[in-house]
Amino acid sequence: MIYLGSDHAGFELKESIKDALEKKGVKYLDLGTDSLKSVDYPDYALKVAKKVKEDKDKNSFGILVCGTGIGMEITANKVDGIRAALVHDEYTSQVAKEHNNANIITMGGRTTTPTEALRFIDRFVSAKYEGGRHENRINKISSIEKLNI
Ligand code: RB5
Repeated sequence: MIYLGSDHAGFELKESIKDALEKKGVKYLDLGTDSLKSVDYPDYALKVAKKVKEDKDKNSFGILVCGTGIGMEITANKVDGIRAALVHDEYTSQVAKEHNNANIITMGGRTTTPTEALRFIDRFVSAKYEGGRHENRINKISSIEKLNI
C-alpha cells in the first residue's frame, strides 16, 4: 500500500502520481489534501506518517508532497519509527531505500515534474534495503528517538 499526502503546493503533483498509480493498478490511499486551497503541511504529514507506522507490511510506504518536500520531511520525521527522505533525483530515491530504509519519500511540487516524480518512485520501489552496516546506523536512529530530547 502507498499512502499519499500533500498540501496545496503539492496537490497537483500528488494528483498526477495518483493517476499513474491507478493506471498501473497499484494500491494507494489518498489522505488529502483534496484541492488547491491553502492548508498546513504538518496536518497531512502526520496523517501519512501514522498510517505508515501502523502498517506492518514492509513493502508499504508513504509519499508526501509539499512545495519543496522539506516541510513534509521535517514533520514526518517527528514520528517515532518514521524515516522520511526528501528525494530530488533517481540516485537519492534509490539510496533512501538501500541505505536509510526510508518508509516515506517526500518531494517538492514546485521542484519536481510529474515525469521525474514517477521515475523517483519507480527507483525507490525497485531498490532493496541493504542492511549490514546500515542496520547499525538505523538502530542508532531508533535509540535517539527513545531519548526524547
Ligand atoms: C507552502 O507555501 C510551502 O511553504 C510548503 O508547501 C512547503 O514547501 C514547506 O516546506
